[in-house]
Amino acid sequence: MAGEKDKIMAKIDLDKVPEHIAIIMDGNGRWARKKGLPRIAGHRAGVESIREVIETSLELNIKVITLFAFSTENWKRPRKEVNFLMNLPLEYLNKELDNLKKQGVKINKIGCEEDIPEKTLNAVKKGIKETYNNNKLILNFALNYGGRAEIINAVKRIADKVENKELDSNNIDENIFNEYLYTKDLPDPSLIIRSSGEKRISNFLLWQMAYSELWFSPVYWPDFKGEHLLEAIYDYQNRDRRFGKVK
Ligand code: IPE
Ligand code: IPE
Ligand code: MG
Repeated sequence: MAGEKDKIMAKIDLDKVPEHIAIIMDGNGRWARKKGLPRIAGHRAGVESIREVIETSLELNIKVITLFAFSTENWKRPRKEVNFLMNLPLEYLNKELDNLKKQGVKINKIGCEEDIPEKTLNAVKKGIKETYNNNKLILNFALNYGGRAEIINAVKRIADKVENKELDSNNIDENIFNEYLYTKDLPDPSLIIRSSGEKRISNFLLWQMAYSELWFSPVYWPDFKGEHLLEAIYDYQNRDRRFGKVK
């Protein structure tokens, strides 16, 4: 409801918005089942929530939104659902790319490219290329992403460098390690949101969330609107982030 959104928007401190918000978009299947629809209807309906989140993020001048679209574990779902999910980025970009371009959105992607169908990968790469010079908001899709896989991938590449004497193991620190992550050019998320009432991380951004604030919304992803994002940000703004220090 626009009224609800305006009410909470008025309470937000525009000088204190999180720079990077990462979202675990969960609950599509349960949303659909509740309506007597097939699970894939929930995935399709979830696209509308993405649009709302982008619009609200642009209004607040948020710099990065990361969306968990497909995890390394989601391959274990029924073939039909996996196929649908793998086709969804293509469907989404066909419909939304022009609008994203106009809005100044820059598309980015994290995750393992292997196993992603070529058609899907090409559509995402086209989106990345065509929005490359945009700078209002980075829209980062975590596609075939797993936090553990990302860390293992980094460790292997670092081990290669050490073996080839291009890197001294004594010099490995958090900054160097960060350079080997998919997110190397992005700030760590200040706020992580999960919809659908589940309170777990499900292998998302394990390294990057060391000091993220967490927000669990009971709302299923297709029902997640701008006002729900604002609710999370408002709560975030009223927290005391200590980073281990004392005041
Ligand atoms: C999130 O919704 C979308 C993906 C994981 C791709 P789910 O499909 O997990 O929906 P639920 O959790 O079964 O309701
Ligand atoms: C996490 O949701 C992955 C995405 C949102 C893409 P899941 O629905 O796959 O996670 P679990 O199985 O409930 O932990
Ligand atoms: Mg789920």
